[in-house]
Amino acid sequence: MRMTPALRGLIEETTLSAGHLIYPMFVTEGSGIRREIPAMPGVFNFSLDELLREVETFAHCGLGGIILFGVPGDKDEHGTSGWTENGIVQRAVTALKREFPDLLVSTDVCLCEYTSHGHCGVLSPDGRILNDQTVELLARMAVSHAQAGADLVAPSDMLDLRIGEIRKALDGAGFHELPIMSYAVKYASAFYGPFRDAAQSAPTSGDRKSHQMNPANAREGLREADADCAEGADVLMVKPAGYYLDMVQRLRARYDLPIAAYQVSGEYSMIKAAARNGWIDEARVARESLVSIRRAGADIILSYYAVQFGLGLI
Ligand code: PBG
Repeated sequence: MRMTPALRGLIEETTLSAGHLIYPMFVTEGSGIRREIPAMPGVFNFSLDELLREVETFAHCGLGGIILFGVPGDKDEHGTSGWTENGIVQRAVTALKREFPDLLVSTDVCLCEYTSHGHCGVLSPDGRILNDQTVELLARMAVSHAQAGADLVAPSDMLDLRIGEIRKALDGAGFHELPIMSYAVKYASAFYGPFRDAAQSAPTSGDRKSHQMNPANAREGLREADADCAEGADVLMVKPAGYYLDMVQRLRARYDLPIAAYQVSGEYSMIKAAARNGWIDEARVARESLVSIRRAGADIILSYYAVQFGLGLI
């Protein structure tokens, strides 16, 4: 059954198409800016004008959508630029939905890109994240994204009870139908390194181990996902993807909800770096990595390769 392409095609179990993929994009203040992330060739910080120009280049290729991250001009202890009405992400969402009404525009909901200390929440005097005060701000942020016109909000903070509070806040503001994609099983991973350069969101001290999961734990991830389900999540995400396919498979088996997986910055950078050294075939490795995430059970993949796949470059 493997002797010819026709036979192989006949029994191919897993499909991958552009519609399964969400492309992460970074939007920053200013104009005329298109700054490539050193460790992520092909991935940029865009000012809003350049962001619109970039989206134009792939708007026709049927991607599942994009997810926006903000790289703000101002940061403070409460991450105010993340939840004000005229924040960079809010303005980008409105402009994108005006220019590309059919494109699914989702937003990352977390404070780390907007706080001066780079932590995912408001800090107590002794440097701990204050869960409930932070969740209140995350709910405000989600509502501001909804008001700007987002199609989907994706909380990535991993604090407790945020899905329920965001759901309540969205409902209270009249956004009963807006879905929440929860970063439900998110690990404290070293694979986020290049992203933190891209989003300028590395914590100035300490780490994220008090809220993101220990890579050694699996059962705990199921408890995290159970909680998010009970609180009203519409999509459950595992992150990173490629090294956590066991978690993708477990979630797929346990829930009927759509499952997403985030092929994170470090996963992308490693493929790019090896390819640049001539050590691997980038297109084949990139496709294989994405198919494997689908095979494990992901309906949706967030990947920096989304556009290259959509345009037929990988
Ligand atoms: C938090 C967030 C992070 C990523 C997505 N959302 C960084 C973190 O948790 O430190 C990482 C994505 C990547 O590495 O590509 N806003």
